[in-house]
Amino acid sequence: MPKSTQPPAATPAARVQPPAPLAISINGKPYFHDGDPAMPLLWFLRDRLRLTGTKYGCDDGGCGACSVLVDGKLARACAVPMSAAATHQVTTIEGLAGDTLHPVQQAWIEHDAIQCGYCQAGQIMAAVDLLRRKPRPGEDDIAAIGNLCRCGSQPQVRRAIARAAELLRGERK
Ligand code: FES
Ligand code: FES
Repeated sequence: MPKSTQPPAATPAARVQPPAPLAISINGKPYFHDGDPAMPLLWFLRDRLRLTGTKYGCDDGGCGACSVLVDGKLARACAVPMSAAATHQVTTIEGLAGDTLHPVQQAWIEHDAIQCGYCQAGQIMAAVDLLRRKPRPGEDDIAAIGNLCRCGSQPQVRRAIARAAELLRGERK
């Protein structure tokens, strides 16, 4: 039988479906992300939602300026891709207070812990996480937080964390 000289019939091009938008909860509100799933959560917060309380520092997971809570646990938003944050509950500094300031925020004011302020949202979120895990933190626990502060406000921050622990335990002296 002679070989066909016809080229093989072209197969229909596979239809490429766009990825489904990623659902995420930020400060109790639902959002969707339909862009690059590898985009850092930090960019979504700051550039898409304009939640600029979460700061951009080292962009390498080291400084803590971008600290947020994901399902109540500390995370560095520069190091969390949207694909990993999706379906989770994210809390930023803007979502921390209820009708009144969070006790950590109250303690921060009491101890005047803020200088330029750039690192402070991250410090506060790290303190909230520490006090959730350790209601009676020792000095070493507090020192281990490790968020960087270029202004040198660590002594006030540490005193504020100790005071916040008292407030959270109901010791309002
Ligand atoms: S900006 Fe995320 S840890 Fe420094
Ligand atoms: S208060 Fe300025 S960087 Fe910490």
